[in-house]
Amino acid sequence: MFDVNEIRKDFPMLNGKMMQNHPLVYLDNGATTLKPQSVIDAVVSYYTETSCNIHRGDYDLSFQISNEYEQGRKTVARFLNAEVNEIVFTSGASAALNQIAFGYGMDNLKEGDVILTTHEEHASSILPWFSVAKKTGAKIEYIPLTDKGELTVESFQSAMHSAVKVVAVAAVSNVLGYKNPIKEITALAHEYGAVVVCDGAQWAPHVKTDVKDLDVDFLAFSGHKLCGPTGIGVLYGKYDLLEAMTPMMLGGGANARFDACGNILLKHAPAKFEAGTPAIEAVLGLKAALEYLEKLGMDAIEEYEASLKRYAVEKLKELDHLILYNADASTGIITFNVKDVFAQDAASYLNSQGIAVRAGNHCAKILTEVLKTSETIRASLYFYNTFEEVDRFVEAAKNITVENCVGLFF
Ligand code: ALA
Repeated sequence: MFDVNEIRKDFPMLNGKMMQNHPLVYLDNGATTLKPQSVIDAVVSYYTETSCNIHRGDYDLSFQISNEYEQGRKTVARFLNAEVNEIVFTSGASAALNQIAFGYGMDNLKEGDVILTTHEEHASSILPWFSVAKKTGAKIEYIPLTDKGELTVESFQSAMHSAVKVVAVAAVSNVLGYKNPIKEITALAHEYGAVVVCDGAQWAPHVKTDVKDLDVDFLAFSGHKLCGPTGIGVLYGKYDLLEAMTPMMLGGGANARFDACGNILLKHAPAKFEAGTPAIEAVLGLKAALEYLEKLGMDAIEEYEASLKRYAVEKLKELDHLILYNADASTGIITFNVKDVFAQDAASYLNSQGIAVRAGNHCAKILTEVLKTSETIRASLYFYNTFEEVDRFVEAAKNITVENCVGLFF
């Protein structure tokens, strides 16, 4: 039974928080999510009860916390249906995607090879590949998106060819929220021998992720977008690919031996990618976040979010002054504009009503070419949002006019 009112009690930020003299309606979950008490407790408990380093100390407290950190890895592996040694902790999805591009791409791409991607990518999913393409002589090509920005199997098929060595795509666009056909794309990419790098930042928090079923070669996500702490992310990679990949960062904890002549013997994956003291408290917080999501059930989360989205869209469709870009996308992202009102002004009006959304290009700066608008307003839902909050958002959206935006800034 999915009881959103019970769930909300777990989130201190949802317990009477006000913004602009209105109860906060937090609809910026695509940017980051709120934290349940269990995550906050896990982080605080590390600092108050078990502060020490991991994998270095020869005393009980260090053994205990090293064990909890590795339990965190096991929890991520279970959450993704991966093997434990396929889970690398990073500082976030961006760090993971950069590690893959520079660690795998630099060693495996050469002039004439193609990196196939899309116009809907978030900066972190595409900029590392731009850089690798420049350095290696590989070429960037784009899978055509439909007019409304959807990635289809047919368009992928039309763009795929034998020179493509890497397919770099988001599983869900952070602007449009369409679930991309990653499993089908991956199967086809593998027929050509290409490696699939999946930005899962907007997928893993909202949809059950099974890397064995998807069969992607690499996948990245961030902890803070699924109720975990900031500063922690996950790089999933098939073990053989991880073992062969060059780490971007070298240092303590990642090597088994080095000598004065500069010879380095790296540890096996995942340790070789985790040089230096990691964000221990963030791993413990991420573990608590994933356990929390597992308790609710990812299928229930997806279903509830989809029903909220459908409800919101039905109401928003009645507002003639709104342009909706992704009414039929099933995840909880609602992207729109208000005719004749600058997106940031519209977001500021919503702010004046206690509603938090994001406006702009959302770091997906070439999607604007497909959407034919340089900025949009994005309201992004999560499982703790309610139908009443959607009503408040729709009521406020009704009143977004140039006249009502006058005076918001001065
Ligand atoms: N990538 C995050 C977003 O879409 C920050 O807002």
